[in-house]
Amino acid sequence: MLPDRNDRATWLGCKALWHEASHISMRLNILRIEPRRDILRALPLFGLLFFFGGCAPEETRPAEFVSTELVVNLPAEGQTAVMAALEEHCGTPSNPKFLGDDSAETKAAMDMGRKIYESRCVPCHGYSGDGAGPAAEYLWPPPRDYRKGIFKFTSTNHGNGVPPTRDDLRRIITEGAPGTAMPSFRLLKDEEIDALVTYVIALTHRGELEILLAQDYEADEELLPERVQDEINYVLDGWANEEQRILRPAWEAMTEYNEANILKGREFFLNQTDGCVKCHGADGKGSGAGDVGEDIWGYEYPAADLTTGQFHGGGKPEDIYRRIYAGIKGSPMPTFVNTLGDNPEAIWNLAHYVRYLADQARRDVAAQQLERQAQQAAGLLNEDDASEEDAPADDG
Ligand code: HEC
Ligand code: HEC
Repeated sequence: MLPDRNDRATWLGCKALWHEASHISMRLNILRIEPRRDILRALPLFGLLFFFGGCAPEETRPAEFVSTELVVNLPAEGQTAVMAALEEHCGTPSNPKFLGDDSAETKAAMDMGRKIYESRCVPCHGYSGDGAGPAAEYLWPPPRDYRKGIFKFTSTNHGNGVPPTRDDLRRIITEGAPGTAMPSFRLLKDEEIDALVTYVIALTHRGELEILLAQDYEADEELLPERVQDEINYVLDGWANEEQRILRPAWEAMTEYNEANILKGREFFLNQTDGCVKCHGADGKGSGAGDVGEDIWGYEYPAADLTTGQFHGGGKPEDIYRRIYAGIKGSPMPTFVNTLGDNPEAIWNLAHYVRYLADQARRDVAAQQLERQAQQAAGLLNEDDASEEDAPADDG
C-alpha cells in the first residue's frame, strides 16, 4: 500500500529535501574527486525539490501508521484487533511509544527523535518507516522499509533474524551509505543521533509486532492480551543482548596485504562452485552475472560493482570481513559461514582482493596521471630545448 504522494508532500518534507539535497551534494564533493560528476549525480535530487516546490505548508502527519499488506488482507475485525493492540503498545504518529518502555528518559528521546525524523527522514523513509516517503520512488536503491526488522549493514552475526546493534544504526545515520541516497547526518549532535536511533528502533519494533500479530490473528481469529504480550516479549528478546550478536573479526588471523595473498583471494573469488564470480562476475563489476535474485523487500537487486571504490556498508577491513562472513541481511548476497567460517585467513585474503578491486578506479586515475605527467615532462623538455637560447620562462 503506497501512500498517495501528494498527501505526504508536506512543507516539512520540502524543507527537509532541500536540506538533504544540499547535504548529499556536499558529501559527494567530499567523497569523490570529480566535482562535475557530483553535481550531475545530485541533479535528480534538485529535480525532486523542484517537483515538490508546490507543496503547501500544511501538516500532513497521518493519524495512523501505515499497515503492511498482511494486516490489510485480514478481515475487518482482524484489522481492528491488530490495530488496537498496536496503538496501545506503540502509539500513533502524533504520540508514538517505545515498545515495552514508558520511562521518562525514553519518552524524551522519542520526542526528540520524532521531531528530527519528521523533518529529516520522512521524505525518504515515510512517517511509518515503510520506506515510502514522497522521494522514495525516485531513488535506487530504495530507502529502507524498517518494518521487517531487517537491516543490511550490521556488525552482527549472519541470519536475517539477527537485528543490528544501536551502534550499527548510529554508524549508518552518522556516515550514511556511500553510493546511495542515504545521506550522512554527521552534523547532528550525538544526542540527536541517539534519539534518532531510538525512534528508528521504535518504528522497527512496531513493524515486527504488526507482522506477528497479523499472523496470529490469521491462525486463531482472535488476539488475547497474553498472546500480544508473548509477541512483545519475543520482539524485545530479539533486540536484547547486543554483545552476543556481534560478529568479531578474527584479527589474529589477518593475513598481510601482499600480492601472494591477494592472488589467493582472487582464486576463491573466481571459483565457479563456491566463489563470488557467479554474482559479481570475473571482473568484479557484476558483468555477465545475470539474474542474482530479489532482496527480501521484493526488489531485483544486482550484485555490487566492487571496482567503484564505494561500499554502502563501509570500506574498513572489518566491514568487508563481516560482509563476506555474514553476508548482507535481506539481500541476495549470502553468508559464507558454511564454506569459510573455519577459515578466517581465506576471508581476509578475499577481503584483500575486494580491496584490490576497489582500488581499480584509483589505479586508473593514477595511471592516467602518470601518463599525463610523462607527456608533460616530454613537452617541457621540448620547450626547454627550444628556449635554451632565450631567457628562461617565468611560469613553470
Ligand atoms: C534522500 C533519502 C534519504 C533520507 C533523507 C534518509 N535516508 Fe535512510 N536510507 C536511504 C536509502 C536509499 C537507504 C538504503 C540504502 C541501501 O539499501 O543500501 C537508507 C537506509 C537507511 C537505514 C538502513 C541501513 C541498513 O543497514 O539497512 C537506516 C537505519 C536509515 N536509512 C536511517 C535514516 C534516518 C534515521 C534518516 C533521517 C535522519 C534517514 N535515513 C534519511 C535514503 C534516505
Ligand atoms: C548470490 C549472489 C552473490 C554472491 C555469490 C556473492 N555476492 Fe557479494 N553481493 C551480492 C549482492 C546482490 C550485493 C549488493 C547487496 C546490497 O547492497 O544490498 C553484494 C554486495 C557485495 C559487497 C558490497 C558491500 C557494500 O558495503 O556495499 C561486497 C564487498 C561483496 N558483495 C563481496 C562478495 C564476495 C567477496 C563474495 C564471494 C565470497 C560475494 N560477494 C558473493 C551478491 C552476491
